[in-house]
Amino acid sequence: MNTVIKNIGCLVTCRGNAIKTGESLNDAGIIDNGFVVIEEDKILAVGKGEDYKKYLKEDTTIINGENMTVTPGLIDSHTHVVYGGSREKELALKLNNVSYIEILNNGGGILSTVRNTRKADSDILSEETKKRLDLMLLHGTTTIESKSGYGLNFEDEIKMLNVNKKLNDEHPIDIVSTYLGAHAIPEEYKENRDGYIDLMINEVIPYVGKNKLANFIDCFCEEGVFSVEESRRILKAGAEKGLKVKIHADEIKPIGGAELAAELNATSAEHLVGASLEGIKELANKGVVAVLLPSTSFYLMLNKFADARTMIKENVPIALATDCNPGTSPTESLQNVMTFACFGMRLTPEEIINSMTINAAYAIGKNDEIGSIEPGKKADLVIFNSKSLNYLIYHFGINSVKSVIKNGKLVVDDNKIVERW
Ligand code: NIG
Ligand code: FE
Repeated sequence: MNTVIKNIGCLVTCRGNAIKTGESLNDAGIIDNGFVVIEEDKILAVGKGEDYKKYLKEDTTIINGENMTVTPGLIDSHTHVVYGGSREKELALKLNNVSYIEILNNGGGILSTVRNTRKADSDILSEETKKRLDLMLLHGTTTIESKSGYGLNFEDEIKMLNVNKKLNDEHPIDIVSTYLGAHAIPEEYKENRDGYIDLMINEVIPYVGKNKLANFIDCFCEEGVFSVEESRRILKAGAEKGLKVKIHADEIKPIGGAELAAELNATSAEHLVGASLEGIKELANKGVVAVLLPSTSFYLMLNKFADARTMIKENVPIALATDCNPGTSPTESLQNVMTFACFGMRLTPEEIINSMTINAAYAIGKNDEIGSIEPGKKADLVIFNSKSLNYLIYHFGINSVKSVIKNGKLVVDDNKIVERW
């Protein structure tokens, strides 16, 4: 099958042969009046003007991209999309100034989602998650990272990772899996933290590594959750079993999570709202990707976003993601994140789109396959009903997606999922 998207008002390629930092983050490789040629599941050619004509065959499907913006499929490099239940009851507590960590320490927050996730069998959990993946796809996301962390025992953590695996096979969205057993201390281990850490290190991590159930290991390194020392132990145990390292670092209080990410040569440090300047410099030195989650800052009412401008100035590679989860960021839409990244973090449209495509691909180890519109990459593309990239970010609060192409196939058209995979 061969498809040509021609006369694209604004073709945002995000091309380049390295992760984008500093000035280069502000170059999204935009081509006016561009075209893309798709052959089967790959991009065959990219260009400008009428040159697309030489690729036309008898059975070519032609899409007219006039007045549209076309970007690489969006990549959500940090999500907790597999979960049971919901947490709207916490709204009233939040409005009464009960903090996130207080809610957690009183058995709510993550622990309430753990109870609901344990209760749900694998089919129910898959069904619930599939609905959220559909929403992601409708909003332009074609690949995600998905963390466990609401099982917090052997059986339920493995159940979550198997849901990732099953949905990766069954849903058009590709899923990269992360083991986040160190998301909280489960209630039954409240008086025996080390017992839970030993369970992860001696039983769950070896099983996950041996059965290749995850690509990454992650840990919520935060005051009142896992200390830097505990996080180091857990993450090192994962690395020994072949898992690459990610860290929920300095989300609320700066306790040295960024520094730990640099020390462990992590692939990414995530959140970083409270990261110190020293920590930021160390991330830059080691090329650790800072995965920033501005909708979480907004939803936690932190009145503070991660200091993305300083990170860019210091040449830290950044990515942007939803953090999709039932507590701190109940949204599936990376377009929401675009709004917070621009108006909360003062990132430019070019910086934002690079951070959700090519840089996000680096954050999940998939940069050879996806993240830019270049010959040889997977044909994962979004067609936005927007005349320019600027317009896409400027007109906020709506879903601007017209169509989504995944692996060369049209999977969303006119805001509806079309059954063509
Ligand atoms: O990234 N901080 C830890 N994990 C999630 C929240 C999970 C939850 O509250 O259910 C986060 O913010
Ligand atoms: Fe998170």
